[in-house]
Amino acid sequence: MTQNSSLRETHTVPVSFRERSASKRISRRDFMKVVTAAIGGFMGLVTSIPLIGYILSPALQKNENTSWIDLGPLEKYPIGATPSPFDFTQTRVNGWERTALSYGVFVIRTDEKRVQVLSNVCTHLGCRVTWHPNIEHYISPCHDGHFDLTGNIVKGPQPRPLDEFTTKIENGNLFIQLPPKKRES
Ligand code: FES
Repeated sequence: MTQNSSLRETHTVPVSFRERSASKRISRRDFMKVVTAAIGGFMGLVTSIPLIGYILSPALQKNENTSWIDLGPLEKYPIGATPSPFDFTQTRVNGWERTALSYGVFVIRTDEKRVQVLSNVCTHLGCRVTWHPNIEHYISPCHDGHFDLTGNIVKGPQPRPLDEFTTKIENGNLFIQLPPKKRES
């Protein structure tokens, strides 16, 4: 007998009823395994969604670049040729990162209707300017940059006037908007 005919005989051996039943039992068991695994996976996914959301939410938060800061009643800033300093800290949240930024501003009220708020950061290399009433200039100590009362350049290497904040008055309180605006010379 050739090898081919032997193979044919092997294929023609009938499968017994018991073997078929055993095969069906295994299939049912496998099916149940798959269903159980699917249900388990689905339940795991459902229960983990809030956790994933909690972990990712800081990264998905929109980072607001503008905000209004309340500087208190406008009345507390006197009218005249002397600027009033005001300092505050603002916390920025960027994803998981929290940064506290300190700001210093000068409030200038030259008359009843006008209010101007300037940043105290020198536009050259960022040193803090201070007001010198004897010469009525803001002076940057780093390179002797001078600005006048309304922030215009008097002398020094600074490229532009002091940055200015947008203002608004609400219920008698003065608000400024971050960030300050750059001004042209
Ligand atoms: S940082 Fe102000 S003049 Fe240089």
